[in-house]
Amino acid sequence: MKEKLDNIKAAALREIELASTTAELNNVRVKYLGKSGEISLLMRDMATVAKEDRPAMGKLVNELRNAVEGTLIAKTEQIAELEKQARLKAEAIDITLPSSAQRLGSLHPLTAIRRELIDIFTGMGFTVADGPEIESDLFNFQLLNIPKDHPSRDMQDTFYVNDNIVLRTQTSAVQARIMTNAQPPIRVVSPGKVYRSDDDASHSPIFNQFEGLAVDEHITMGDLQGCLTTFAKKIFSEDTKVRLRPSYFPFTEPSVEVDVTCSMCHGKGCRVCKGTGWVEILGAGIVNPAVLDMCGIDSKKYSGFAFGFGIDRIAMIKYGIPNIKLLYENDVRFLAQFN
Ligand code: DAH
Repeated sequence: MKEKLDNIKAAALREIELASTTAELNNVRVKYLGKSGEISLLMRDMATVAKEDRPAMGKLVNELRNAVEGTLIAKTEQIAELEKQARLKAEAIDITLPSSAQRLGSLHPLTAIRRELIDIFTGMGFTVADGPEIESDLFNFQLLNIPKDHPSRDMQDTFYVNDNIVLRTQTSAVQARIMTNAQPPIRVVSPGKVYRSDDDASHSPIFNQFEGLAVDEHITMGDLQGCLTTFAKKIFSEDTKVRLRPSYFPFTEPSVEVDVTCSMCHGKGCRVCKGTGWVEILGAGIVNPAVLDMCGIDSKKYSGFAFGFGIDRIAMIKYGIPNIKLLYENDVRFLAQFN
C-alpha cells in the first residue's frame, strides 16, 4: 500500500510539473483529487484495510493529499502569473506610435473670398443686402436702364423663365431693389449667385458676383476710385495699382472698366495676366441719373457710384486657378489646397 501511495505521489507531482496551462493543471486536479480521482478512491479503499492499520494509512493518504494539493496550488499561482504576463504583453499598446491623422475641413475658396470681401467693405461703412436669384425683368433690366428689346441686353446671355421673369444675370438687380426701397445715404454691397447661358474655361452658367452701391450728395468718380483702390490693396496686396479705362454700361454714366496690377507677378507679366502685367477685374461707374430717377431718387440732389465683379474671377486671379469649373466640381484634392 505504501508503495502504491508513493507511486501515485511521484506520478501526480510529475504531471503537475509538466502542466503548462491552467486547463492542463485542472485535468491533473480532477485525475487525482476529483470525486473519482485516484486519491479520493484510496479513501474508499480504506474499508479493505485491516482495522488496526487504518489510522496510519489514513495519515499517509492525508499527507499525500496535502502534498499534491499544496504543489497544485503553488503551480496554479505560477501558471496564472505567467499567463497574466503573456496577456499583458499581447495587449500592450505602444503609446509612442503617432495617432491617426485628423483631417480638418476648410472653407471653399469662394466662401473664404466672399467673407474677406464683406469684411473689407463693411470696414468702409457698407452694409450687406441680398436679393432673389429668380428675378423680375424689371429689376434685372428695366430699372437699370435696359429696356425690353434694347440691344444692350445682348451683353448678357439670359436664362428666361418667361417674358417677365429671369434667372438674374447680375447682382446689379439688387441695386434697383435697394434704390426703390430706400433714400440716400445708401452704402450697400451684395454678394450672390448669378446665371448666364455661357460655358467655357472662364465662364460658368452659374457664378458669383459682388455688387457695390453708394448714393449720397456729392459722390464723385474720385470716391469710386478711392474705394476701389482700398479694396484692391486689401484683397490682393498693398503694392497693387488700379487703373480705370472708359467703358459702357447702361446703368452708369460715365462707365469704366477697372484693371489691377497682376497679383501673381506684381505687374511683371505672367500666365495669369497674359504677359500684360494688368488684369481686368470689374465694371463700375457713376450711377446713371436716369436709373436714380426711375428708382425714385432725385438725381438733381443725389449722385452715386456702383461697381460689380465676379467673386470667381477674384479667386482665380488671387490663387492662379486656371479654370472656373474647378470652383464648382468640389474635388477635395483641389479644395484641400485652401486649408
Ligand atoms: N453688372 C455688370 C456685369 O454683370 C457689372 C457692373 C458694371 C456692375 C458696372 C455695376 C456697374 O454696378 O456699375 O457685367
